[in-house]
Amino acid sequence: MPNRSKRVVLAYSGGLDTSVVVRWLTERGWEVYCLTADVGFLEAGAELETRALAAGAVGFEMRDLRDEFARSFCFPALMAGALYEGRYPLATALARPLIAKSLVDVAREQQATAVAHGCTGKGNDQVRFDVSVQALAPDLQILAPVREWELTTRQSEIIYANAHSIPITASADKQYSLDENLWGRAVEAGPLEDPWNEPGNDVWEWTVNPEDAPDQPQYVEIGFEHGRPISLDGEALDPVALITRLHELGGQHGVGRIDMVEDRLVGIKSREVYEAPAATVLSAAHIALESLTLSKQQLRIKHRLMQDYADLIYDGLWYTAMHQDLAALTLSMQRHVTGVVRMRLLKGQAVAAGVQSPNSLYRYSLATYDEGDVFNQTSAVGFIDIWGLPVRVQAQQQLLQQPGGPEQISSGRIE
Ligand code: ARG
Repeated sequence: MPNRSKRVVLAYSGGLDTSVVVRWLTERGWEVYCLTADVGFLEAGAELETRALAAGAVGFEMRDLRDEFARSFCFPALMAGALYEGRYPLATALARPLIAKSLVDVAREQQATAVAHGCTGKGNDQVRFDVSVQALAPDLQILAPVREWELTTRQSEIIYANAHSIPITASADKQYSLDENLWGRAVEAGPLEDPWNEPGNDVWEWTVNPEDAPDQPQYVEIGFEHGRPISLDGEALDPVALITRLHELGGQHGVGRIDMVEDRLVGIKSREVYEAPAATVLSAAHIALESLTLSKQQLRIKHRLMQDYADLIYDGLWYTAMHQDLAALTLSMQRHVTGVVRMRLLKGQAVAAGVQSPNSLYRYSLATYDEGDVFNQTSAVGFIDIWGLPVRVQAQQQLLQQPGGPEQISSGRIE
């Protein structure tokens, strides 16, 4: 029986931080087992095992989580309309709880007593990992060496790596901090830390500069069923294939660049640049379909709740009852969101050019100003009489009595 009392499962990316973490934990008596979660667009997949073992890991495995990520994390967030601070499609934030779950699964299989990650103590990701693991497996110890070690600069990590013959890649001297998955790419640090600096061309990898994008628009028809994207141009596609295709199309037309200053959970404002071509196209399409299939009141409620849903994802609260409640409401609200949206991609923009649904609440015969109008315009008189009733009462009783009379009402002033 191997002694497993000091085995830890590390979320391993193959970058400088996690490679150094392997060695650092090993020196402190841990057997480090590396897990790489494939949540999409994983570069250098094949070299990761070699790199992990060279750094001193006792074992390595890669788990393909792409389908689950797309199906159970990205699409539900899309259906909920969750965009953090109105813009960020939450790619990194959505992946963390899934990676945490997979860390716990592997820790059980490996009879490990701890899990580890390479997050710093200033970001959101440490919160998401820690809180998710605490929810799923309260008995597991959580190790976050980067949060506590003496290697406080990138340079000191490189020196440590060289001193311990840990192979590091060319990216060790990169100036940006990156995170990538199916749903999007996040870039921070380096020159981006000054919000006055426009992102340089070296920031963008997934999208062409909209100025250089084709002058001709490209159309793509996205089919949705109960709020879930199911097809492109009539061809049924599984979630990963559908996202990958829109990633390419959107990227070719410069769609999905997001440059923002956002509020981290730990209280810091931070400059973040994202590329999320697929999420951006899908989100615009989904909004267009909802405008056709949800009532005014449903749309109002959704607008209010989607902010809470986005915060919940961003703040690491995926494994909570509140998430289940909002997810249940979202599913219910999406039951009529079925149809097709024709998207036009052109020079950085993704715009709904056409939308149709078997459940459409749009009635031509009510909306038209042409032949075939069935709307009874004479009923409008009675409607306005009742609608305007409290306005008339208040104006007469209060507002017209003000010293400025009608002038004051129209200026909006209070005196
Ligand atoms: N700010 C984003 C978030 O908190 C992305 C963080 C991505 N991490 C990175 N190393 N670039 O979800």
